[in-house]
Amino acid sequence: MSNYLVTGGAGFIGSNLTELLLTDSKNTVTIVDDLSMGLRENIPDSDRVTFYEHSITDHDFMSRLLIDGKFDYIVLLAAIASVADSVERPYATHLVNQEANLSMLETLRTHQITFKKLYFSSSAAVYGDSPALPKAETMAVKPLTQYAVDKFATEREVLNYGRLYNMPVVCTRFFNVYGPKQNPKSPYSGVLSIMMDALKADKPFTFFGDGEQTRDFIYVGDVVRAIRGLLETPSARDDVFNVANGQQTSLNQVAKELEKLTGKTLHATYQEPRLGDIRDSYAQVDKLDQFDFMPHTPLAEGLAKYVASV
Ligand code: UD1
Repeated sequence: MSNYLVTGGAGFIGSNLTELLLTDSKNTVTIVDDLSMGLRENIPDSDRVTFYEHSITDHDFMSRLLIDGKFDYIVLLAAIASVADSVERPYATHLVNQEANLSMLETLRTHQITFKKLYFSSSAAVYGDSPALPKAETMAVKPLTQYAVDKFATEREVLNYGRLYNMPVVCTRFFNVYGPKQNPKSPYSGVLSIMMDALKADKPFTFFGDGEQTRDFIYVGDVVRAIRGLLETPSARDDVFNVANGQQTSLNQVAKELEKLTGKTLHATYQEPRLGDIRDSYAQVDKLDQFDFMPHTPLAEGLAKYVASV
């Protein structure tokens, strides 16, 4: 039996992870989520789930929870998840994406709280726009937005707390995650959720740029299996892993595939690229693939599952 804390557990990745964790009938999950992007209906209806509608920026609340909770695993997924949103709200992003997480690390340190593993989700955004591809964990970083700076800083803080204060920690750098439960309702939502919503409702879709920008799209089911694997593998610690499919796909390619799967035509308009956006991104995934717990769902198969789910 394991007791998990999942911050951001009502969000896209957090709720998919919670579902996976609950498939082990002995696990319990405590969720903290302020529902700023997460949705109450994403939270599985189970007596093994405890939900606190709360921001992780509330230091006193989070400290009390960490001290009293006796968590085996601490999963830090709560975040302002959009690069573009962070360009609009740099300080608010900083308070959530870095400061709140650092404050939790401090509570764990000063109260000498023990646990099996703490996990933090960093981002491919830390690599910035340097032309070298694919992105490997050993490459120099170039964080170009507040989002990327905070993700990189927190990743380093987590690893430093691990090393300096002997805490079992692990981090990932997510590339572009898609799939069921991604909220399409904000202009800052992940591009595939917005595109899918536009196709479904025959609404216009805006490409920021010419649609030839590339990303490494990974199915959420693969991502949550990677997180669970990293949490439960004792040797996977004090390190950061790219989590991606290892394939470079343009927005135009993905739009074609979704048109084929839905049988609909995207009503596309074009605007200037968004401030802070990078042009190309895809990952080297060998480091994570040394373990075998993450499937690589091919894009066409993952998109088909996504279309079937909405
Ligand atoms: C995404 C994630 C971020 C993650 C990062 C890792 C979201 C919201 N962001 O950032 O959490 O850390 O990957 O690589 O999931 N675009 C359009 N039209 C739209 C929306 C977006 O053309 O309506 C374009 C953007 O300008 C960009 C691309 O699609 O070029 C991807 O944008 P977005 O989905 O916001 O993701 P990233 O910025 O890559």
